[in-house]
Amino acid sequence: MKSYKRTTITSALPYANGPVHIGHLAGVYVPADIYARYLRLKNEEVLFIGGSDEHGVPITIKAKKEGVSPQDIVDRYHGIIKKSFEDFGITFDIYSRTTSKTHRELASEIFRTIDQKGGFIQQSSEQYFDETAQQFLADRYITGKCPHCGNENAYGDQCEACGTSLSPTDLIHPKSAISGSVPVMRETRHWYLPLDQHEAWLRRWILEDHKEWKPNVYGQCKSWLDMGLQPRAVSRDLDWGIPVPAENAEGKVLYVWFDAPIGYISNTKELLPDSWEKWWKEEDTRLIHFIGKDNIVFHCIVFPAMLKAEGSYILPENVPANEFLNLEGDKISTSRNWAVWLHEYLEEFPGKQDVLRYVLTANAPETKDNDFTWKDFQARNNNELVAIYGNFVNRALVLTQKYYDGVVPACGELTDYDLRTLEEFKHVKTDVEKLLDNYRFRDAQKEAMNLARIGNKYLADTEPWKLAKTDMTRVATIMHLSLQIAANLAIAFEPFLPFSSEKLRKMLNLNTFSWNDLGKTDLLPAGAKLGAPELLFDKIEDQVIDAQIQKLMDTKKANEVATWKPAEIKPAVSFDDFLKTDIRVGTVLDCVKVPKSDKLLQFRIADGINERTILSGIAAYYPDPSALIGTQVCFIANFEPRKLRGIFSEGMILSAEDADGKLVLIQPSATVTNGVEVK
Ligand code: 2FM
Ligand code: ZN
Repeated sequence: MKSYKRTTITSALPYANGPVHIGHLAGVYVPADIYARYLRLKNEEVLFIGGSDEHGVPITIKAKKEGVSPQDIVDRYHGIIKKSFEDFGITFDIYSRTTSKTHRELASEIFRTIDQKGGFIQQSSEQYFDETAQQFLADRYITGKCPHCGNENAYGDQCEACGTSLSPTDLIHPKSAISGSVPVMRETRHWYLPLDQHEAWLRRWILEDHKEWKPNVYGQCKSWLDMGLQPRAVSRDLDWGIPVPAENAEGKVLYVWFDAPIGYISNTKELLPDSWEKWWKEEDTRLIHFIGKDNIVFHCIVFPAMLKAEGSYILPENVPANEFLNLEGDKISTSRNWAVWLHEYLEEFPGKQDVLRYVLTANAPETKDNDFTWKDFQARNNNELVAIYGNFVNRALVLTQKYYDGVVPACGELTDYDLRTLEEFKHVKTDVEKLLDNYRFRDAQKEAMNLARIGNKYLADTEPWKLAKTDMTRVATIMHLSLQIAANLAIAFEPFLPFSSEKLRKMLNLNTFSWNDLGKTDLLPAGAKLGAPELLFDKIEDQVIDAQIQKLMDTKKANEVATWKPAEIKPAVSFDDFLKTDIRVGTVLDCVKVPKSDKLLQFRIADGINERTILSGIAAYYPDPSALIGTQVCFIANFEPRKLRGIFSEGMILSAEDADGKLVLIQPSATVTNGVEVK
């Protein structure tokens, strides 16, 4: 094991083209923050770098859609994102942006150095050009028919209907999304990082020297390397980005994935103009990148190759990438608004940052994609935070208040049971440490929660409230030890639930707060005065959760309506054929729900000749069937009778199905004679 003096922690720079959601927090920022807080608590030298990624095509597309400049877009979202991170207690040492001057200069300088060292090759290729708009088209700016599923609105990089990755030349009938014209092929020249030339050392460095990387990260790298690396273009024909600092580079900018990771370095430089280099260039610095799985190739292959080509930087020691978090069984999607946005969460759950941090860590997608559900959020809050952690702390503090007026009582003689309990909780430090050192945050948090379980069991087994009648010396020892466990909880949970730890620290009047204190039983000396007890967590009621679920259901409906298209017109039918269907009007004599069916209503209809029974699957949309009595409906009179749920249905009542699936009865606009035909 190499020994290090300091750790540079980076977390992926989110694109500043939308707010951040729970997927971002769970996959990258909470684990990175837990790790940074843990190292700081251990008094290690650590720097935690964040920032917004403000270049790239999606930002220009959003700007165009809104009729504003890309700078307007990134200014807006950089502010929103930065605030969300602050609100959730993500303790970046700096959160800056890739449109900063320092960044532009450093990215240009790194490009120039690599260029001067002969680290790039230049290649020409044919790319789509929009003659009307007089510009080359980024892949996202070309739309056309998907060759796989026939979707007419596929993008040049991906078809969102079938999920296939495409290249612009795959599209059938390509069109420019800027002018609508048909693009032509034109030659363009770009700078490429020849990854093929880096393959040999990358193979050794990753596949042999970093076998300890998480299996998902190692596996993805291996499959890239086994496929063989190709040169990658690091410039683009675009007008939003950092101009390529070279000759004959007019109209060309650095590819967003070239400049973004340099953002980690330039943000460090912005924070520490005189001492930034030691965080990036000294061999005794450990560099750790926290990212999501879609960023693995860039952080494990492309960025290291850039740094190696530049020549003076260290490489990452580890890249503990996470998989994805889904929401209620569906992929989180910004465009479909299928997300829990952090700023909205805080409006709806003020002060409950730690609850979300806890749930996201308990469910972290560390080894596979995971699902966030509101029911699980509620259960973890009520059954774990409230019932285990909060309950123990509250009992320890309230009982101390009651019996000792809020003063830590002196510890008497320890029983065997006390000693066994202490033995159990002394393990917590090494157990949590081992897990955190291996980036296993969900298990580490589980271990911290075990400490509260130990505390609860200790109180439940010793029952100080019963002993209070007979043996106050024993009660003093029990409360003394319980308070030491509570103090340990404040420390153990600090990286995970910083707001609650701070609250608890104040309640305990605890001054020292260091990881090395974990496991100690003398954190609160006898005679110390405690603060007033307050609840650490409170129960979340069903109606609060139901409202969140309803909000998502409304989003789903709105998406269905937004993407609804009329069905294709069926093949023509002759008038004679049409007349074969006998459509008539009748009056509803009676209408009731079919027992044990959610869908069916049973109608009794006066059809002008007689009465008939018809079943119709519209119950969900007519909750008060009796209101239909006396109204007229249209029905197919010669529809072959069918038995449904044991009842004969003699016809079919006509209704229209709206875009959201809702069924609406077709009813004549004025009363007509029962039995007349609809033509
Ligand atoms: O995937 C993303 O959201 C990118 N903006 C991440 C960039 S990470 C780093 F390179 F800056
Ligand atoms: Zn498709």
